[in-house]
Amino acid sequence: RETGEVTFDPGFVNTATARSAITYIDGDQGILRYRGYPIEQLAENSTFMEVSYLLIYGELPTAEQLESFDQGVRRHTLLHEDLRRFFGAFPRDAHPMPVLSSAVSALSTFYQDSLDPFDTDQVELSTTRLLAKLPTIAAYAYKKSLGSPTVFPDNSLDLISNFLRLSFGFPSEPFEVDETARKALDLLFILHADHEQNCSTSTVRLVGSSNANLFASVSAGIHALSGPLHGGANSAVLEMLEDIQASGEGVRKFVDRVKNKEQGVRLMGFGHRVYKNYDPRAAIVKKTADELLSKLGKRDELLDLALELEQIALEDDYFVDRKLYPNVDFYTGLIYKALGFPTKMFTVLFAIGRLPGWIAQWREMIQDPETKIGRPRQLYTGAGARDYVAIDNR
Ligand code: CMC
Repeated sequence: RETGEVTFDPGFVNTATARSAITYIDGDQGILRYRGYPIEQLAENSTFMEVSYLLIYGELPTAEQLESFDQGVRRHTLLHEDLRRFFGAFPRDAHPMPVLSSAVSALSTFYQDSLDPFDTDQVELSTTRLLAKLPTIAAYAYKKSLGSPTVFPDNSLDLISNFLRLSFGFPSEPFEVDETARKALDLLFILHADHEQNCSTSTVRLVGSSNANLFASVSAGIHALSGPLHGGANSAVLEMLEDIQASGEGVRKFVDRVKNKEQGVRLMGFGHRVYKNYDPRAAIVKKTADELLSKLGKRDELLDLALELEQIALEDDYFVDRKLYPNVDFYTGLIYKALGFPTKMFTVLFAIGRLPGWIAQWREMIQDPETKIGRPRQLYTGAGARDYVAIDNR
């Protein structure tokens, strides 16, 4: 709606705030491509490290480029000892998302030599440091919540194997990486790696548009991701499935409550601002969830509940009319659960996957001559001019 010179667009439904060459979405057709490559092909053939390179540098790496990128990341997985102690300052039952965000914010105090957004070498260094350290931070946040001892990273391992060991391993105990688990996590991270101007990515860009450093911008993005309408939906889906199971109310009754908008209850993991068709990521996760759960030997009744919920919703006019389909978060939690992660960690896993996208978008924004500091306008609805009243006369 045009109001004078200001366009009123709550939630930026129709406003593009950037030109971007990173991710393409056609929401009506259910198409997602990173740098032109269809998500289905990347999911089938690529790896998370390769996709990270693709998003950040624009092209698929040669074998040599990938090796050097991978080795660079492996060399930076360790956390400074003072930062390791940082985890002890949080309450034991702290949610790992604010711990993750706080630790990323703290990186800017430990690595003051890589904060200048306009120095290419410094940006390279902060990119590598973030990619390497976020999984370590995530695993330490998890260990902290268990009260378990942390393990030092093993740089002979690839990023995801290392993360699994940091999360589930114990000091001086051998740890065998489960190849099925590693592959599952690799796939899920690929599917989460970027999604153009979503809430957290827009936050990263908005904060970065003031020339704030990469650590500060990503830390803000993590907070944006934590909300249940965004990345927090993956935990919310599992809680919803567990609640339906525990209450015994049945799927149809629950769907009725959603349709009646009872206390704002929504079908979590359904609907999307851009996709008005099946989310292609959800299609891949759904296909994989069943295979994986049986491969991992962890058949879950909640998967049957989710499948039933989806089927009922897809045939119901409420959801059909509003073009509400399962999104990426609908089935991922079931896989994370099967891998052994508690519900609280699901959104942290999303953050690890989304990191290369945030970095790529921040770097694109910083290099773009069209970038201006983000500064939305408003439609003022408050009082007109009035005179100050002394406190005794109010
Ligand atoms: N369950 C029930 N009704 C819904 C849902 C849902 N999940 N999503 C949208 N609607 C209804 C909504 O009530 C509205 O109905 P009406 O026109 O009668 O008022 C209509 O559909 C349009 O919804 P909206 O809120 O205007 O749509 P939006 O584009 O602003 O919101 C969304 C998108 C993802 C926030 C929303 O669909 C939602 O809340 N979904 C559940 C949370 C979720 O799964 N989030 C993850 C999103 S995908 C991955 C990510 O970003 O992390």
